[in-house]
Amino acid sequence: MSEAKKDNRNPLFKGLKSLEGPFGSFDTLKLPEKPGELFLDWFAEALREEITEPHAVTLSTVDEEGRPDSRTLILKDVQGETFFFASGTESRKGLQLRHHRGAAMNLYWPALGRQIRLRGTVADTGADEGAEDFRRRSLEARAVALTGKQSRPLGSEEELETELAECREKLKEDPNLASPSWRLYALEIDEAEFWQADPGRKHARVQYRRGGEGEWEHGLLWP
Ligand SMILES: Cc1cc2nc3c(=O)[nH]c(=O)nc-3n(C[C@H](O)[C@H](O)[C@H](O)COP(=O)(O)O)c2cc1C
Repeated sequence: MSEAKKDNRNPLFKGLKSLEGPFGSFDTLKLPEKPGELFLDWFAEALREEITEPHAVTLSTVDEEGRPDSRTLILKDVQGETFFFASGTESRKGLQLRHHRGAAMNLYWPALGRQIRLRGTVADTGADEGAEDFRRRSLEARAVALTGKQSRPLGSEEELETELAECREKLKEDPNLASPSWRLYALEIDEAEFWQADPGRKHARVQYRRGGEGEWEHGLLWP
């Protein structure tokens, strides 16, 4: 008899548990027609359950060469099937979105065992909406955004502090000032998936897809 194969994995990964539950139910027989509505139902539940930062989403984009990239940011609003986030046009994601408007978002709420996947096309909502979002930010957040240098290599912390001090001054002199490169982006989705974990791994998955005429269809997926 051969010996059991040795587990050579890094000990940090051994014995870790996932998706243990217990989790609430997801009635896949009673679904709204459109995914935006189900998203808001789930989001309201996440708020009721006091999930930490339920509006933190992973946004995936692709660069000019088609290489995927992703980062976490804050979901600012949802209207119908459009999901809003804010960032700088000159950041890495901003440049990527200029070349390729296709993007995806992912949310995971471990305490609820819920994951939401969204795919669609991103539009820049324009300077006015960007300025409005910018002015709602704290002074510190506005100062950072006003540099317009997100994702560029930084020489030193002193360089950052000097520029932030200048930006703070400018904002104190003119509280209405907005960064011309700050934008509210709108992801209009054409696909969404709502995933409810089951500790027995019989996860419930519902996929919504938008057809050519703009109508939404939904169905179940194998776990
Ligand atoms: C919880 C969380 C929230 C964030 N919110 C934002 C945000 O709303 N906008 C933003 O530009 N970056 C946000 N960031 C920083 C981004 O993850 C990322 O570092 C930054 O946008 C630069 O990404 P890029 O180099 O791909 O452009 C957030 C990060 C975390 C962890």
